[in-house]
Amino acid sequence: MSSKNTKDHLNKGQNTKNPVIEVNHLAFAYVEDPVLTDINFTLHGQESLAIYGANGSGKSTLMRLLLGELSAAKDTIYIFGQDVTEKKDWHDVGYVPQMNVTRNVSFPVTPLEMLASCQIRKMSFIKMPGKKHYEVARKTLKRFSLLDYGKVPFTELSGGLQQRTMIARAMLAEPNLLILDEPTAGVDEQNKKDFLQLLNTLKDEDGISYILVTHEKDLVEQMVNIDQAYEIRNGVLENV
Ligand SMILES: Nc1ncnc2c1ncn2[C@@H]1O[C@H](COP(=O)(O)OP(=O)(O)OP(=O)(O)O)[C@@H](O)[C@H]1O
Ligand SMILES: [Mg+2]
Repeated sequence: MSSKNTKDHLNKGQNTKNPVIEVNHLAFAYVEDPVLTDINFTLHGQESLAIYGANGSGKSTLMRLLLGELSAAKDTIYIFGQDVTEKKDWHDVGYVPQMNVTRNVSFPVTPLEMLASCQIRKMSFIKMPGKKHYEVARKTLKRFSLLDYGKVPFTELSGGLQQRTMIARAMLAEPNLLILDEPTAGVDEQNKKDFLQLLNTLKDEDGISYILVTHEKDLVEQMVNIDQAYEIRNGVLENV
């Protein structure tokens, strides 16, 4: 894997005095019963954090709060020093959605098209990817060893390749933080190992931090280099 921009990227992540994420006494309820009661953690630059929990324990809810998709109370979540309720520019945060969500992609988009068109943020009048966007997409596919699959419909790719495509897509904007929700659901053992190695490479070479949630306890046990690991239960994080 090339280490393009490694230094700049590391500096971007580490020069900041602020933690990457700070969560203080976060509580949340959709209706009456609280899903999260008192969540607290701090993640610094180039650090990794994993949370496992049973189905329905609130993992996706927590991720959606971190991403500003659900409204957290003011003063409970800070991302790069900014209160999440005030955050407008999200280019520094990459998101890899729950695998069973990506499996629902029903139109025949290819990884190349996916990576070219998601650069839309950088496009001006005509909202169609141009030559430059395809070049960047090809370069990124190459970096993630996906170039051979660039023109294969996403739905025909194996779970492991779909997941790698989603990570490549999330890394396009060169984020400093990756948030991954159940990234290995339905992925076989070898692909899980490759995936964990890829995450550590991104951490070491690109200087990213990452947060991963999963219902698979064994995935967290395999993460030997993880900086922080928790179980989410009854709305709080417990050390594991
Ligand atoms: N939009 C919603 N409205 C009301 N309740 C919800 C909503 N989304 C989730 N819930 C409830 O909140 C709780 C936590 O759900 P969440 O999806 O965060 O769990 P999870 O740990 O991600 O589960 P899974 O392992 O199945 O992905 C569950 O009881 C769920 O039924
Ligand atoms: Mg979930």
